[in-house]
Amino acid sequence: MSNRERTFIMVKPDGVQRGIVGKIIKRFEQKGFKLVALKMLWPSEQLLQQHYSDLSARPFFPGLVKYMSSGPVVPMVWEGLDVVRTGRVMLGATNPAESAPGTIRGDLCIQVGRNILHGSDAVESANKEIALWFTDAELVSWTPANEGWVYE
Ligand code: RTP
Ligand code: MG
Repeated sequence: MSNRERTFIMVKPDGVQRGIVGKIIKRFEQKGFKLVALKMLWPSEQLLQQHYSDLSARPFFPGLVKYMSSGPVVPMVWEGLDVVRTGRVMLGATNPAESAPGTIRGDLCIQVGRNILHGSDAVESANKEIALWFTDAELVSWTPANEGWVYE
């Protein structure tokens, strides 16, 4: 495991429309993870079909692509020790009805079809997703002032 592990987190269109982008960023900042990339864009259906290609055979896939392409999203890359797994724990279960209170989905949303954010489910998929949504030049290399106090 490495302090340089990276995950791909994205605020979905409902999260942007509801004005909770800042709250989501704050959760990751307060935890101690490092933001290395962030932008806003209105994604095409084609990009989303690629992003969710593993789910293309599922009955909810057309609705998922429609939802995800209904407005702007805020993709980000966060870095830190075990950030992929911990990020998923912070998000909570896919279906907010089963997300524990204290998780982002558990605290901020109700339905699986409007679950406000995405998080990579493995290091391999994180790397694929980061490469799909960001260019190398958009991944910023920097050292936070508090780095020495986040890790022993
Ligand atoms: P995500 O990729 O968005 O972080 O979500 P996840 O890993 O927790 O769940 P995944 O199985 O990858 O599903 C992707 C997204 O598809 C929508 N979904 N709808 N109607 C349904 O039964 C259903 N199941 C999944 C959700 O928006 C889910 O986050
Ligand atoms: Mg997923």
